[in-house]
Amino acid sequence: MKEEHKNQATLILIKPDGLKKSLTGNILTRLSETKLEIIAAKMVRVTKEMAEEHYRHLKDQPFFNDLIRYLQGELHQRKKVMALIYWGEDAIKKCRSLAGATNPEEAESTSIRGSYGRITTSGLYENVIHVSSDPLEAEREIKLWFKPLEIIVDLYPKKKITVKEKEETVWA
Ligand code: PPS
Repeated sequence: MKEEHKNQATLILIKPDGLKKSLTGNILTRLSETKLEIIAAKMVRVTKEMAEEHYRHLKDQPFFNDLIRYLQGELHQRKKVMALIYWGEDAIKKCRSLAGATNPEEAESTSIRGSYGRITTSGLYENVIHVSSDPLEAEREIKLWFKPLEIIVDLYPKKKITVKEKEETVWA
């Protein structure tokens, strides 16, 4: 009998160093080797609150403040990241394998981080991309970075609410 395979989603962030080094095309080409589907993509200006929430499990680390400034683009004069969701069988494992180890010095030299990452003199990893570490983290991160209707696959339960007197910017 054919084994059933479960689709999985992962958040990918192309971080400000990746954007500054013009690596977007290279990274997306590498990730296309996975044959996974991109089900959401956008450029995001990252607030301090977003960055702190994204890395909330690291708030006691000595590098936390630098990490927040890094994700906000303050170290690279690129105040944006590209956020994507990749979806398909074993998405997390496949993307993490192409990304390489978190520490760019330990990452396999042909991996994305091994090819393009570095450690700063102050010890911060500038490792070009973020990939969710497991399905629970992926769900938390995807819900932080994307609204339900920005994703073209129904990943998680959603509900409709009526928001009154909410200011919105529309085309003039
Ligand atoms: S992992 O691989 O995501 O499970 O790693 P985790 O330990 O949860 O996340 C660590 C993130 O902090 C970034 N970072 C560093 N980690 C360790 N040591 C140093 N010096 C350091 N500097 C930055 C690391 O890149 C992880 O972020 P992401 O976005 O996952 O790469």
